Amino acid sequence: MSRISDHPVDALFTDRWSPRSFTGEPVPDAVLQSAFEAARWAPSASNAQPWRFLVARNGDAAWDSFLALLMPKNQIWAARASALILILSALKLERGGAVVDNGSHSFDAGAAWTNFAHQALLLGWHTHGIGGFDRAAARTRLGIPYDYEIEAFVALGRKGELADLDPQFHAAEAPNSRRPLSETVFAGSLGTPAFAQERNAA
Ligand SMILES: Cc1cc2nc3c(=O)[nH]c(=O)nc-3n(C[C@H](O)[C@H](O)[C@H](O)COP(=O)(O)O)c2cc1C
Repeated sequence: MSRISDHPVDALFTDRWSPRSFTGEPVPDAVLQSAFEAARWAPSASNAQPWRFLVARNGDAAWDSFLALLMPKNQIWAARASALILILSALKLERGGAVVDNGSHSFDAGAAWTNFAHQALLLGWHTHGIGGFDRAAARTRLGIPYDYEIEAFVALGRKGELADLDPQFHAAEAPNSRRPLSETVFAGSLGTPAFAQERNAA
């Protein structure tokens, strides 16, 4: 069931995928700290590091309120994650003594999240991004100021067995694929394949 890349890449990139089956076991602080440390080293415009993370561990005081923010279908499987992490990004940054809009707050938070996901995987833990949640409720219930964008939740856990997962998700519980580079990377403008062998094949 492992993914085959079209061009050589480190297995880290194809091995990361988003299961919905989790064991629910407690996640050690050391795992979370390493994953957040990897996120910390992501690049960002003006090194503003706009990412912020709110964490709830399964069973702690914040867990039920985090889980309740997810769309019902996401709650079903995310209930067995070990941690739920809400990713925020700061809309403003300081440049030359002035506070200005940060045009890349989401882009940079995205870079941090993939660092997080890859480091977690290196430690044997899987992640699953979640965009299906109530953003307005998250803002009010978690007291998130309007100068932060609410980006996404991430579920983190040890991958479980299929038997741990509600049957409605069984068919999708496998690594998926990607469209080819020929439909993604273009020479100068959209539509012209960037690489000679793709132009010849077209
Ligand atoms: C920002 C974001 C939001 C997502 N939202 C959901 C979601 O609400 N529910 C869900 O089951 N999966 C969600 N996913 C998982 C994606 O469907 C998944 O990452 C995508 O199909 C690629 O598969 P892979 O991560 O296994 O490579 C989300 C992923 C991201 C990055």
